[in-house]
Amino acid sequence: MLTSLLLSVLTASLVTAAPSCELAQPSQPATPPVSVPNNGSTTTSFISAAWFPGWEAASFPFSSINWQKYSLITWSFAITTQDPAVLSLDASGPTYISDFVKEAQAHGTMASISVGGWTGSRYFSSAVTPQNRSTFVKAVLDLAAEYNLDGIDFDWEYPNKPGIGCNEVSGSDSENFLGFLQELRAQPAAKNLYLTAAVSTSPFAGPDGQPMTDVSKFAEVLDHIAVMNYDINGQWTTDTGVGPNAPLDDSCSTVQTGSATKAIKAWVTAGFPADKIVLGVPAYGHSYTVSPSNAVDGSGNLAAYPPFTKNPPTSSVDQCGNPEAKSDIMNFATLIGEGFLKDDGTPANGIKSRFDQCSQTPFVYDQTKQLMVSYDDPQSFAAKGKFIVQNNLLGFSMWEITGDHNDLLIDSLTTAAGVTSDC
Ligand SMILES: *[C@@H]1O[C@H](CO)[C@@H](O)[C@H](O)[C@H]1NC(C)=O
Ligand SMILES: *[C@@H]1O[C@H](CO)[C@@H](O)[C@H](O)[C@H]1NC(C)=O
Repeated sequence: MLTSLLLSVLTASLVTAAPSCELAQPSQPATPPVSVPNNGSTTTSFISAAWFPGWEAASFPFSSINWQKYSLITWSFAITTQDPAVLSLDASGPTYISDFVKEAQAHGTMASISVGGWTGSRYFSSAVTPQNRSTFVKAVLDLAAEYNLDGIDFDWEYPNKPGIGCNEVSGSDSENFLGFLQELRAQPAAKNLYLTAAVSTSPFAGPDGQPMTDVSKFAEVLDHIAVMNYDINGQWTTDTGVGPNAPLDDSCSTVQTGSATKAIKAWVTAGFPADKIVLGVPAYGHSYTVSPSNAVDGSGNLAAYPPFTKNPPTSSVDQCGNPEAKSDIMNFATLIGEGFLKDDGTPANGIKSRFDQCSQTPFVYDQTKQLMVSYDDPQSFAAKGKFIVQNNLLGFSMWEITGDHNDLLIDSLTTAAGVTSDC
């Protein structure tokens, strides 16, 4: 079932019987076949994935998803709890998940659930310990069975890092995470599960907190990792000013805070095969309060890395009980809805804009709102699509699906990557 509907990479030597409807990449160099365990078949494939934020299910009907454009959609999140036997789906109703899985599978799209997330990773550390591992494995497999899932994603943010601030942390986190994944993969019920991890731009942290130099064993038990190359700059980078959210490169910039180029290099150098890596791409940007005099340079163009005024804390608190700052997240679709961009995703009249050549990402500024936004658009997604092909990556995964507008972003990426639909 999935074979015919995965986004297949067709090459001269790898052409198989043409399924009724598929996205193919005919003119690209041969990529090594990627084993997709679902349905016991091996196929060459391009992973076109997105996360679905469960809390948006009521306002974003499944009928608005063009499922055939995705090989995998991952429901977010199942949250870790103090009890390793319990994964909590409180934030997203069971009815929605069942319908989500049915819809996905009816369209040949793999349905997965992501465990963790920024606010849901607090108890990963004790769940994967040798003492609690089997209990946690069972909890994960029970979740997969209950909802008839094709896969499970682990979005532990991050092993041996405090993350949101109050996560349990241990120097053994990455070692225990590997042990847990190995035990999970060894279960008969997990043989055909598509297992993935969402990871930071640095390889998993070892006992000393530094990136591990060999993560190759993770690649033996995971089908892919999604390298989350976003939030590279944000409200916390006050020292350097307004920088790109998801830079493709930063070696050409005076401010170097990380990039897809460096992140992929770091993971591949640490032994994770490129053809099991998908690039995490954002359908959102970060907005910053910038005064009109700081926003433009001497020539009247938008300034690079202007200083900004940090968002004040609100009266609400986060999962750790710390005051939350006002959110600066703006989806691509929201930028269109709020008049920063036109319906085709280009800057609206009266909005100053700049496309940064180094990071290959755009910026816009609304002088009335005194807001500058670093975001991604079809042009930056096209650059990322080319990067994926040039680096022989497996594909992309977008955070998150409701942020796109009329599929402008994913269409641009897949077109640039040479993936075309024969439908
Ligand atoms: C596996 O794929 C084949 C070919 O697409 C299909 O006929 C079959 O029903 C699938 N099996 C399962 C268990 O999904
Ligand atoms: C195992 O889980 C329990 C909660 O059920 C927790 O109290 C305990 O600390 C955990 N053990 C380890 C070694 O992490």
